[in-house]
Amino acid sequence: MRLDNKVAVVTGGACGIGKGIAERFLEAGAQVAVFDIDGPGVRELASAHPGGRVLPLCGDVASEHQVQAAVEEVVRQWGAIEVETLITAVAPLPEGPAWFDRLYRREPNLMKVILQP
Ligand SMILES: NC(=O)c1ccc[n+]([C@@H]2O[C@H](COP(=O)([O-])OP(=O)(O)OC[C@H]3O[C@@H](n4cnc5c(N)ncnc54)[C@H](O)[C@@H]3O)[C@@H](O)[C@H]2O)c1
Repeated sequence: MRLDNKVAVVTGGACGIGKGIAERFLEAGAQVAVFDIDGPGVRELASAHPGGRVLPLCGDVASEHQVQAAVEEVVRQWGAIEVETLITAVAPLPEGPAWFDRLYRREPNLMKVILQP
């Protein structure tokens, strides 16, 4: 999967699963805004990836105001957030188990599936 010049936002991206996602997106060529309550953590991630493809944003996902400000900052710096490439399918909720089976089997190119109630 290539994400060249795509703009993604990863919340909780300073460590753990979120950091892993951010690093995978960077490997694939994306520009990644990392939004996390851990300010030193996001700045450390940005320092580890010089070249301007990491935008460190410190904030709390529980704060509507801080999330709004972060989105506005991403749009101001990079124009738009583009996530369509990451969405493999939008499917009805009852199809969820079948999609999880495919995800757990690590089907190639299967990324995010949005289940609609
Ligand atoms: N559904 C599953 O199978 C599954 C499996 C593993 C983990 N999880 C969940 O995924 C999430 C990430 O797991 P992890 O192990 O990477 O956790 P983690 O604690 O290692 O990382 C969480 C990150 O989120 C940041 N964070 C915490 N509260 C925040 C807030 N209010 N605003 C912004 N950032 C905040 C932390 O600073 C940290 O960088 C957790 O909620 C965990 O419970 C789900």
